[in-house]
Amino acid sequence: MNIGIIGSGGREHALSFKLKQSKIVDKIYCIPGNAGTELIAENISIQINDFEKIKKISIEKKIELLIIGPEKPLVDGISDYFKDTNIKIFGPNKISSKLEGSKTFTKKLCKKYNIPTSKFDIFQNKDSAKKFLTNSIFPLVIKADGLAAGKGVYICNNNSEAINAVDEIFDGRFGKADCILIEEFLRGEEMSYFIITDGKTFKPFQTAQDHKRVEEGDVGKNTGGMGAYSPSRLINNELQNKIDEKIIKPTLEGLSDLNSDYVGFLYVGLMIINNEPFLIEFNVRMGDPECQTILPLLNSDLGKIIYACCTKKLSSIKIKWLDKKSLCIVLCSNGYPDKYNKNVKIENLNKIKLNENSLIFHAGTKLVDKDIVATGGRVLNIVNVSNNFAESKKQALTILQDINWTKGFYRKDIGYKVIS
Ligand code: AMP
Ligand code: GLY
Repeated sequence: MNIGIIGSGGREHALSFKLKQSKIVDKIYCIPGNAGTELIAENISIQINDFEKIKKISIEKKIELLIIGPEKPLVDGISDYFKDTNIKIFGPNKISSKLEGSKTFTKKLCKKYNIPTSKFDIFQNKDSAKKFLTNSIFPLVIKADGLAAGKGVYICNNNSEAINAVDEIFDGRFGKADCILIEEFLRGEEMSYFIITDGKTFKPFQTAQDHKRVEEGDVGKNTGGMGAYSPSRLINNELQNKIDEKIIKPTLEGLSDLNSDYVGFLYVGLMIINNEPFLIEFNVRMGDPECQTILPLLNSDLGKIIYACCTKKLSSIKIKWLDKKSLCIVLCSNGYPDKYNKNVKIENLNKIKLNENSLIFHAGTKLVDKDIVATGGRVLNIVNVSNNFAESKKQALTILQDINWTKGFYRKDIGYKVIS
């Protein structure tokens, strides 16, 4: 079977890598892909929002199954766009994608189905929000409703920070804002919980913890993710059961009540407080860099798992995992998450020899002649799998030292909570 993968990040390179090992996959096409996917797949240069061209090329290349990596095309309805074709889409439809596309949609769902989350209010204009703030206790969290590439969340410690957040959001910093969310600040430890589902059955797809802030010690600006480790130190059977019963099942039931089902990965962002899960957010896709961190632990055929989801046969599949620890460090261009230079050569990459437990997944890279150049803010993902997080981190750091890219930087403290 020919497979298409939409996206160009480390997540999509990791998906390509794992699908290359599948017994049921013949050829992989990446739209548009990066220098890493080019080594294992055929890259096709089409914009991910050009559904018409994607459909045309998928038919031409006899792609049977299309996997959607990032959220934007899902929220824009790519799955619905393919409804009139025989091509199977792995990724939720437009209604289900509102779980990520609209934070107020998710909060209302939580309220209706009694899903544990922080207390919240929705405000339609600046005046009502600011009036509410005069009587509020800080810290609290203010969020833009729609997609904001991870930037639409403000943790506010006082009234003036909160007023600034309200103004920025309503003034259109993240696009036109019809409403904002103000919610209670939850104190606990975060955990990302993943499932895969065919709309009828769901199965856990590992846990992870990422580091979103740019600087060591989890401070500084928010990024897409500077590194991650899997599994999370917080997961246990009791907690898993609570997440499934209190959060996943009612959410899928809520979507079903809207005559929608959910096919794909679901990323459940949680705050864990005394072994109780509270939903912070849903993402309707795998995380990045969580995907790169988790997939090396998968000990089953990813192609078969995804195909089973698209044919509603997930219940017949057993998903096996290595009982090991995976850690990923992201190499970024100097300046990220602000301005950075593009088309900068990564000189030593071709010389790196990896052992069998280490992987390099490309993100913002491009092949120019025989050189690999950085084109994005997040450039490479260095992953190592071993028996403990300290060893994985040591191995990943050694590779980064060997790459020795002076035009980039990385955090040296990834996983500090699980490494003493
Ligand atoms: P989100 O995009 O909703 O995941 O929010 C980004 C980050 O903000 C999360 O990963 C949390 O670290 C933090 N955050 C969001 N909502 C809350 C909350 N209610 N309480 C505490 N932290 C939060
Ligand atoms: N690493 C966070 C995300 O993928 O949204």
